[in-house]
Amino acid sequence: MPDGTQIDYNGLIPNNVGLADDLRVRKALETWHPGYIDWWKTMGPEGFQTSSVFLRTAVGVGSEGWAKFGFVRMPEYRWGVLLAPAVEGRTIPFGAHKGEPAWQEVPGEYRAMLRRLLVIQGDTEPASVEQQRYLGATAPSLYDMRNLFQVNVEEGRHLWAMVYLLQKYFGRDGREEADDLLRRRSGHQDTPRMLGAFNEQTPDWLSFFMFTFFTDRDGKMQLAALAQSGFDPLSRTCRFMLTEEAHHMFVGETGIARTIQRTVEAMQAAGIEDPYDIERVRALGVIDLPTIQKKANLHFSLTLDLFGNEISTNAANAFNAGLKGRYREDKLEDDHQLTSLFYPVMRPRDGAIVKEDVPALSALNMRLRDDYVEDALAGVGRWNRVLERAGTQFRITLPHVAFNRRIGEFNAIHTDTRGNILTDQEWLVRRETMLPSVSDNEFIASLMKPSWAPGGYAGWIAPPRHGIDNMPGDFEYVRLEN
Ligand SMILES: [Fe+2]
Ligand SMILES: [Fe+2]
Repeated sequence: MPDGTQIDYNGLIPNNVGLADDLRVRKALETWHPGYIDWWKTMGPEGFQTSSVFLRTAVGVGSEGWAKFGFVRMPEYRWGVLLAPAVEGRTIPFGAHKGEPAWQEVPGEYRAMLRRLLVIQGDTEPASVEQQRYLGATAPSLYDMRNLFQVNVEEGRHLWAMVYLLQKYFGRDGREEADDLLRRRSGHQDTPRMLGAFNEQTPDWLSFFMFTFFTDRDGKMQLAALAQSGFDPLSRTCRFMLTEEAHHMFVGETGIARTIQRTVEAMQAAGIEDPYDIERVRALGVIDLPTIQKKANLHFSLTLDLFGNEISTNAANAFNAGLKGRYREDKLEDDHQLTSLFYPVMRPRDGAIVKEDVPALSALNMRLRDDYVEDALAGVGRWNRVLERAGTQFRITLPHVAFNRRIGEFNAIHTDTRGNILTDQEWLVRRETMLPSVSDNEFIASLMKPSWAPGGYAGWIAPPRHGIDNMPGDFEYVRLEN
């Protein structure tokens, strides 16, 4: 038996879960494998399936040095099933079963709830690959192209992670769900992905960086909440996924920081001080700061919808059941059962937005969203340091949480980015000052020209400070030829 930290690369499916000795699950996964590869080839990165890409692959699941880097053709990437090491004597950390030994098998009474959590998480993983499939063609550098593909193969692996749990613990239902995960399509009219933001388009690289900054960060929060789960295989799965997720947010955060950097450099070189002098800034071939702000407004608000209704019985049930905890549940100091505690929820009341205390159990989505906003703000602060260093007054801000929402307390109202309530008429008039307009998007699209010489970068983005795996600046991260 594997000791849980070594990965077995001998079979078709790399793993540290003892698949070699688990005939039933191995067969189920091997049966699912061709459909997955077929999905990858038709819905994965378009036009680069035969290129060699400098990718990291997990070689262990310990916290130090778990990855190795090397050139791989993406369809030959070793997607596998990797769980963080088991914690000896782990107990259920919250909810009605708090303190009981963590479950190694699915508790019968919570089977349906757990399956739904796995399917919802699993559905987001292939969705983002589908959303990003055309971006390779306009990559601003080989470095960025490689990062895109790295994110893509890891989202593919995250799908494997959820599919393993479905196949291993849910028998026939699990197999059906695993097949459906390959059947739905981002943005498809009849068979869309399950959550709204995963059916939006990611048409350009600014969108991609915003997506990895904002929407992958939702992924981080959801995984962090599931990593606390009393169902131990889910906890271990999510703990390893989180180590991969960190890179996705790095790609987003540094991608936007480099875009901002290049914009302020170009403005300085041209002697432009007013960031709202949009035409002159755009004439330099860089993305003006107000447009970057509008993109942030859009992606932030779309992502907030992923947290669901602020007040939610489902969230309360999942917590009570011990299946989905809070962000950093193990670091929080309260009774971890929340039966008599309250939490403030923001909601519109009589033309104003007010905070109301509601039972903490029903406000768990709100709480996770609050933790998300705080986490995102730290990243925005790092963007603003680029602006600060350049000596400009402009700052990127996050819009009010009520802005541009479709789900939850604010779905029936319009507000501006500061949370002032707007009439429908005012919203229509002001919308394009707060969200990207058609012409903003056309301008961004006009910059999306490939820059594929080793060490070269498109004019709208600054080079990164460090190479991947310490490679030199002119390293050829993607060998385009077959
Ligand atoms: Fe993921
Ligand atoms: Fe991700």
